[in-house]
Amino acid sequence: MTVLGSLNMDISVVVPRLPGPGMTVLGSAARFTAGGKGANQAVAAARLGADVRMAGRVGGDDFGRRLVAGLQAEGIDAGPVRSAAATPSGLAMISVDGSGENLITVAPGANHEVGDTDVAAAFTEPGDVVVISAEIPVPAIRAALARARGAVPCMLNLAPAPQPAAEAAAIVADGVDWLVVNEPEAAAVLGKPVRGLAGAARAAAGLLAAGARNAVVTAGSQGAALAGAQGSATVPGFSVAAVDATGAGDTFVGALAVAIAAGVPAADAVRAAAAAAAAAVTRYGAQAAMPRPADIRAVTGLAWPLA
Ligand code: RIB
Repeated sequence: MTVLGSLNMDISVVVPRLPGPGMTVLGSAARFTAGGKGANQAVAAARLGADVRMAGRVGGDDFGRRLVAGLQAEGIDAGPVRSAAATPSGLAMISVDGSGENLITVAPGANHEVGDTDVAAAFTEPGDVVVISAEIPVPAIRAALARARGAVPCMLNLAPAPQPAAEAAAIVADGVDWLVVNEPEAAAVLGKPVRGLAGAARAAAGLLAAGARNAVVTAGSQGAALAGAQGSATVPGFSVAAVDATGAGDTFVGALAVAIAAGVPAADAVRAAAAAAAAAVTRYGAQAAMPRPADIRAVTGLAWPLA
């Protein structure tokens, strides 16, 4: 599997409540941990047994070196992650409240220099599936989707949804094998609100009409809905004690990609991905919280289908 996407250093603070506009809140000591949606998806997949390559950009700074070293420590081939010498690495400022909800602001830095060279690098040895996440420039996302079409299965996680929303809709309209989005991202593509598991199911069907061959819409702890070539399914979430939702969506995407690439039936793959995401929210951090099969079983009771 190859992941094309972002790498960030996450600076996370646990706060009593998430700040609103104009507010200052005092929180815990800051944690500096590896993140970025692309790198998170790569780590999630690697911990579940996939052979993973990652393409993207870091800055020519200490954070960049730490992010690459972190991938390598997970057994991920980070050869296609290039260093943008004159640009800082991506940074994410994250507040997490007592219920595990978060508020994230990203300074993209080097991630916004991902371009044709990085797309080409991703496709030199793509493996069984290419996963693309959206914290990189839209032209790179579109170029990667164009290269994947008809050549290699592709999973697009449109997170965050590009702005304006017409851009998000246009990307999907070009066609994509697997589209994975949460409620607001689905709403951006469809141009109407999406709420709850029933709304996610309607949205998944709508996303097929919008251009996806298979669509998965996640609805946080409520679960996820699937529509596509193998039919439709609604998968309820797992009830767990959540401390930090950061990276849960990325865990879902990485796990889903591993299961689909291995031929697990789509509805079972979505259930396994939901279980992996549920396990991830029980620990702090993004990559720091990503589960291995034994963690998923311990938290949810689900036996990872490929273990
Ligand atoms: O999805 C979680 C991720 O979003 C964090 O790791 C942060 O880096 C941002 O990209």
